[in-house]
This record gives sequence, structure tokens and C-alpha cells, in this order.
Amino acid sequence: MAFVYKGDTRRGAVWAEQFARKMPELPFCIWPEVADATQVRFLAAWEPPPRLDQAFPNLEVLFSVGAGVDQFDFSALPPGLKVVRMVEPGLTACMCEYVSWAVLSLHRGIPQYLRQQQRGEWKEHPVRPASSRRVGVMGMGTLGRAALAQLRQLGFDCAGWSRSRRNDPGIRCYAGEAELGDFLARTDILVCLLPLTPETRGILGRRIFGALPPGASLVNAGRGGHLVQPDLLDALERGQLSAAILDVCEPEPLLPGHPFWDHPGIWLTPHVASATQAETAAQALLDNLRRHAAGLPLEGVVDRSQGY
Ligand code: GLV
Repeated sequence: MAFVYKGDTRRGAVWAEQFARKMPELPFCIWPEVADATQVRFLAAWEPPPRLDQAFPNLEVLFSVGAGVDQFDFSALPPGLKVVRMVEPGLTACMCEYVSWAVLSLHRGIPQYLRQQQRGEWKEHPVRPASSRRVGVMGMGTLGRAALAQLRQLGFDCAGWSRSRRNDPGIRCYAGEAELGDFLARTDILVCLLPLTPETRGILGRRIFGALPPGASLVNAGRGGHLVQPDLLDALERGQLSAAILDVCEPEPLLPGHPFWDHPGIWLTPHVASATQAETAAQALLDNLRRHAAGLPLEGVVDRSQGY
């Protein structure tokens, strides 16, 4: 039995050390150095090698090294293969930091104050408490729920929307297409933490922007494919949206000369909202492997028919 890691070398070194120390009975190989491919039961990768069924004929679990699994072509994976997304506290904490920073920036009007500074304009706007600002998070998976808990701690009036019903104490939960309109109508700052699936591709578009209160703002820390770029430009132009903070775009990197680069209403970060943290992720993986060995359900297992 063996575990193969295919990814960046720094994380590989940390994982190799932790696996050797905490699970010495499971050989840890760094791709492409795999002594016996028939022994490989577990693979952790962002992009798996092609023809997985032939590369590792006895593979049981494919672990994504990130929170997302949209980079996998599910139709090319062996049908019975379990796919698991990364659920680890370091990645969750970094996402909570980013979402809190973005929401606080929008809540306190910082994009507007920076524009004023560039014009040499000293002008104050009313200061409002967080409790009067309605934040709505789309996507109530591990990251969405953790971000909501943190935003609630900061005092925001929080709601979450998800495909199927969730019940989180202290969070108003909306579910499905039927409740999307009500969720959007009460949302001043919309945060997207949805998984990217055929259903959610292009969801951040004209219809959703039009259902938000005029002057609302957007944070996209999901995937670039969620956003219809011309619809965002149009909503900003018309004042339907007042600002957007985007960590992701499609394609990445954003193309040179793209209108987002120097748009006064848009802040960009280069897909850095969060990242798997090598140390905490190693522990999470080891815990998950122990669960698997004990016949318990894996944490973060993906429903391949839903794509997340
Ligand atoms: C990053 O986008 C990830 O999926 O972890």
C-alpha cells in the first residue's frame, strides 16, 4: 500500500516528513518517483496524471490538494474512485481572514476613500455599525459556514444561501432557487464561496446583480467561472453595484489590458484568498486516512454526480 503526492515540492517535503513520523507503515512517494504503481491506493494532486486507471490500477482515493475539485475532469476518472476535497483548518482560517478583510473594507467604504485620496479629497461619509449591514454568503460548505460564523462575530447581519437546506444557529439560511430572490433582496454585501459546477457557472450575472439592493457590493472568492464579466462591468456602470473585490477570474492570470485591471470599482487579488497550509493539511490527511482504514466516512468526500 502506498500514498503518492503530486504537487509543489515544499509541501511535498513537509508531508513526507509528517507521514514518515506519524504513519510510517504507509510509504509516501513524490510523483513521478513511484516504485510500484500497483501498490498505490491514495493520490493527492491538483492535476492527476492522465489515464489514472492505467497509471495506478488499485487507486482507492483521489485527494484534491485544494478546497476545489472543479479542476478534475470527473468523466475521465475511474468510475468507482472516491474523490475528496481538502478540508483543513489552515485553509479555512485563511479564507475567513480574506472574507472578513473584504467585507470590512466594503462595509467601511475603503474603496471610496482610496478614490477620494487619489483626488486629494477629504470627505467623510456616515459611519454605520456592522449590525446594520446585511452580508449574504452564497455557498454554505466548510468555507462558507466558517466565514459566516466569523462575520457574525464581527457583528454583521448574516445570511447564507445554499443549494440544499442548511441550518446554522444564528444565520438566516436560504435554500434553492425558490429562496434566492429573498436572500438577494436582503443582501448589501454578497460573498460568493460556491463550488464551480455546471449549475453555478455564470451565476454571478445580470439576474443576481439586479435582485440585490442598488449600490450593493460583491466579493468573489469562489471561481472566476462564477462571474459573467460584462454583466459586472455593466452593473458597476449603472450603479447597481458599487464595488467588487475579486480574488479569482477566468482565465487566470487576468489578461493584459483587461478592463478589470484599472477599473475604479474593482479590487483584484491574484487567487490568494486562501491556500492549503502544508502542516495543518498533513494532519487532516492523516486523520482522514485513519478514518478510511477504520471503515468510517472520509471528511470532504465529493458527490461526483453533483460535482462538489
Ligand atoms: C483554491 O482555490 C483551492 O481550491 O484550494
